[in-house]
Amino acid sequence: MHLADRMSRLGTESAFDVLVKARALEQRGKSVIHLEIGEPDFPTPAHVVEAGQRALGEGWTKYGPTAGLPELREAIAAYVSRTRRVNVTGDNVCVVPGGKPIMFFTMMALVQRGDEVVFPNPSFPIYESLIEFLGATPVPIPLVENRGFSFDLDVFQSRLSDRTRLVILNSPANPTGGVIPPDDLARIADLLRDRDLVILSDEIYSRIWYDAEPASIVGFDGLLEKTVILDGFSKTYAMTGWRLGYGVMPAWLAQAVNRLMVNSNSCTAAFTQRAGLAALEGPQDCVTGMVEQFRRRRDVMVEGLNAIPGFRCSCPAGAFYAFPNVSGTGLPCGEVADLLLNEAGVACLAGTAFGAYGDGYLRFSYANSLSNIQDAIGRIGRLADRWVR
Ligand SMILES: Cc1ncc(COP(=O)(O)O)c(C=O)c1O
Repeated sequence: MHLADRMSRLGTESAFDVLVKARALEQRGKSVIHLEIGEPDFPTPAHVVEAGQRALGEGWTKYGPTAGLPELREAIAAYVSRTRRVNVTGDNVCVVPGGKPIMFFTMMALVQRGDEVVFPNPSFPIYESLIEFLGATPVPIPLVENRGFSFDLDVFQSRLSDRTRLVILNSPANPTGGVIPPDDLARIADLLRDRDLVILSDEIYSRIWYDAEPASIVGFDGLLEKTVILDGFSKTYAMTGWRLGYGVMPAWLAQAVNRLMVNSNSCTAAFTQRAGLAALEGPQDCVTGMVEQFRRRRDVMVEGLNAIPGFRCSCPAGAFYAFPNVSGTGLPCGEVADLLLNEAGVACLAGTAFGAYGDGYLRFSYANSLSNIQDAIGRIGRLADRWVR
């Protein structure tokens, strides 16, 4: 018995491995502060939970349309049209169980051996995993720390070729918290407009930003027609476990994604979709309140990290991650991450978990209480004599 060859090319997300290690330490009695996990620590808003419970009571417990409930697709189309200042309809919307399946399905539908896929690095590890899985060629573009972790646009341009089939953008970004500035997006739009390719714009953190609202590539002339917007409910409404996300894309591509849904999931759970409808159409102060708390935590986190010898942390403009440069410690980032977990009881991720250009960095999620963040900073500070000589 053996696995198919393609399985050797499929990667994973090491956040889950670190969580397992951290839990094992906790079972042995060690106190661990969890800054490795990429999910809001807030509960799903009460009115959303109630809508889900009501839906269960009303019998939303059966198969539904593959593309999603029509009322949710329409609500998503209206929301995306409003927030991205474009005009899309329910026919452009595919509702799926989380944001991740949009990655999987659009890449399955578009990418094959011989194609090149351009993507940011460091970035969400599943991009590279899927590119490899599909036998395509990964073309990682390094993110530049002193540009707020945006691309060097000359490098970006130089990596495009006639074989580029897909370009992945992610803003606000995991793991850096970077937001692509509108001027950069305008230039990227100019570079991609006339090419025979599709853009996967991962906007799962679209509502979690601190200074200026992030722009979307679809706002530039001619780009909506060649872009898949990936968004969802996991981060915005603290609904990671409900598994509800969506893609907004040209109708020809939506048909292909729906065919992949029929072949895999049949449909997304209906009661979850009813809860999603309540999230989109209900009060939004749950989102603004959560982002305000994230902002306070971000400020404490960044200031604290910058005070640690050997650490240098730029201020993230979105998402809920800090991505300090720890090359000043003189240690490999994986070693620093292990020291922090094993000696200080602070769980975080090595930058290399997000690709080769993440070397020299750590990712801390500040989706944790202010007091835990302060405690973590204190613990790291007390460990610093391990690398300060
Ligand atoms: C950049 C990025 N895209 C997509 C996702 C997937 O979100 P979901 O949990 O809705 O599948 C994540 C989750 O961490 C993410 O960080």
